[in-house]
Amino acid sequence: MIPDRCFGSLLLVLIGMFSNVLGAFIGVNIGTDVSSMPSASDVVSIIRAHQITHVRLYDADSHMLKALAGSGIEVIVGVTNEEVLGIGQSASTAAAWVNKNVASYVPATNITAIAVGSEVLSSVPQVAPVLVSAMNNLHKALVASDLNFHVKVSSPQSLDIIPKPFPPSTAAFNSSPNSTIYQLLQFLKNTNSYYMLNAYPYYGYTNGNGIFPIDYALFKPLPSVKQIVDPNTLFHYNSMFDAMVDATYYSIDALNFSGIPIVVTETGWPSQGGPNEPDATMENAGTFINNLIRRVSNNSGPPSRLNIPINTYIYELFNEDKRPGPVSEKNWGMLSTNGTAVFPLSLSGSSQIMGNSTTVFCVAKDGASEDKLQDGLNWACGQGQANCSVIQSGQPCYLPNSIKNHASYAYNDYYQKMRSIGGTCDFDGTATITTNDPSYRSCMFTGSSNASSGRGLFPAGEFGPVSPLGEGPKLSVSKIRFVVSAACLFIILL
Ligand SMILES: *[C@@H]1O[C@H](CO)[C@@H](O)[C@H](O)[C@H]1NC(C)=O
Ligand SMILES: *[C@@H]1O[C@H](CO)[C@@H](O)[C@H](O)[C@H]1NC(C)=O
Ligand SMILES: *[C@@H]1O[C@H](CO)[C@@H](O)[C@H](O)[C@H]1NC(C)=O
Ligand SMILES: *[C@@H]1O[C@H](CO)[C@@H](O)[C@H](O)[C@H]1NC(C)=O
Ligand SMILES: *[C@@H]1O[C@H](CO)[C@@H](O)[C@H](O)[C@H]1NC(C)=O
Ligand SMILES: *[C@@H]1O[C@H](CO)[C@@H](O)[C@H](O)[C@H]1NC(C)=O
Ligand SMILES: *[C@@H]1O[C@H](CO)[C@@H](O)[C@H](O)[C@H]1NC(C)=O
Ligand SMILES: *[C@@H]1O[C@H](CO)[C@@H](O)[C@H](O)[C@H]1NC(C)=O
Repeated sequence: MIPDRCFGSLLLVLIGMFSNVLGAFIGVNIGTDVSSMPSASDVVSIIRAHQITHVRLYDADSHMLKALAGSGIEVIVGVTNEEVLGIGQSASTAAAWVNKNVASYVPATNITAIAVGSEVLSSVPQVAPVLVSAMNNLHKALVASDLNFHVKVSSPQSLDIIPKPFPPSTAAFNSSPNSTIYQLLQFLKNTNSYYMLNAYPYYGYTNGNGIFPIDYALFKPLPSVKQIVDPNTLFHYNSMFDAMVDATYYSIDALNFSGIPIVVTETGWPSQGGPNEPDATMENAGTFINNLIRRVSNNSGPPSRLNIPINTYIYELFNEDKRPGPVSEKNWGMLSTNGTAVFPLSLSGSSQIMGNSTTVFCVAKDGASEDKLQDGLNWACGQGQANCSVIQSGQPCYLPNSIKNHASYAYNDYYQKMRSIGGTCDFDGTATITTNDPSYRSCMFTGSSNASSGRGLFPAGEFGPVSPLGEGPKLSVSKIRFVVSAACLFIILL
């Protein structure tokens, strides 16, 4: 038995640190078309070990919902596109869905939203006529269960439903006054819900045929002569991500709705692609995700809505190797299922993200069995290569001479040194994370701001190897067909 598996990545640590510190959150989508999907409890261990606070499921898998109980993690559950029709046609089907998939798990599992379908308007238009009716039926069922204040109903849409997203100020849904999108917005407004947007600068860039510089898609600074400015508002758009969110705000405005916040339910960048997908690289994926986290974490909204943070769910946790489509389609994950990071992150790029964020310590859990703690301690000081010299007799952390105290020191030493390369705070369930510095008297825990070792939490280490994924069948499936015509071009060359 291995007390701690090498789950995790630097990236997720960064996410976790940020979610503690700032208002805007970064969540993660959990797709399951994975040939070696870890068990639900392992998935939750990974998420918890890295303090991810928000997840979105594409269904309402009972194992996941049970495993998430008591974690405090906020969960979006999904109505699949196949289920939308029945729920739209029958209030009792909706009520049964809510009872089975929501009411029976809350409050232990913190379900805060139901995502109804996935990109229905663009990808399954035949379901669109019943979409809002399905949302209404679900909302009524929540009202009947007295859950409507806690659980919102919304429906993730692709940016595709905005034919010309650039410049943002003139963007508009392709809609007539009583269209589905109009009714959907009316529903969101009436129920105090939010708009769920799937926004992929990767597709905006790759389908833009060179109109936009890749740096714009990757949140990198543009030279001053190539600033991207909306000619109507004169807002500077530092990233395509910001422009996509603003295009959606302006499209909502154009239908005379206001006060509906946007949450980005999907964004990401594939780390590997086929021969015709040269931009799907580990380097680009690492840059995008790293910069996305920094962007969202600064708490500001897009130029037209500076005060509304852009809460965002990264697509996605694991590479989904079973998904059909181009090679890139299988490579949106941040982690392999054994927990190794799929792409390296530039540590220099992340130093700003690190900021002064609180150090997280790993200590033995109250009530953990002594046998398991002893196993964990042995492993940490042995294979785990923790420096256990200070818990030896006569050294500063020897007293109190208990297995729990010694395990805490060893777990934490291991964790501080190894987490950047995938070490987690688990130790067969006997360890837990805390922001309280466990140091006492002259016993300084590794990572304590008073310890001489300082904050060397992120040694330049190796990252997990990249999974060698085979070529998949080449279907031309893409999440977004992102139409950029020459007319949309508004790069102003100053
Ligand atoms: C569930 O999430 C809501 C919304 O953020 C939060 O206010 C609440 O404290 C959470 N509940 C639990 C039990 O963690
Ligand atoms: C709009 O659509 C709703 C639902 O389909 C329908 O009940 C209503 O009569 C329509 N209103 C107009 C003005 O067409
Ligand atoms: C929005 O409001 C303006 C001004 O009241 C009106 O002219 C316009 O027709 C409205 N647009 C829609 C889509 O309702
Ligand atoms: C936050 O990000 C936005 C968009 O990139 C940028 O305009 C703004 O200056 C940033 N704010 C801070 C405080 O870094
Ligand atoms: C971070 O630390 C530096 C130097 O100690 C300090 O000047 C700065 O204000 C701190 N920033 C935050 C956000 O606490
Ligand atoms: C272990 O920690 C002790 C005390 O802090 C230190 O003197 C020693 O050099 C460390 N050993 C290694 C191998 O880092
Ligand atoms: C760290 O040092 C400061 C100032 O010397 C002291 O107030 C604080 O209690 C120390 N923290 C710990 C955990 O020893
Ligand atoms: C993790 O999985 C990847 C891809 O499947 C593999 O290349 C790597 O060797 C594995 N790492 C460990 C530590 O098992």
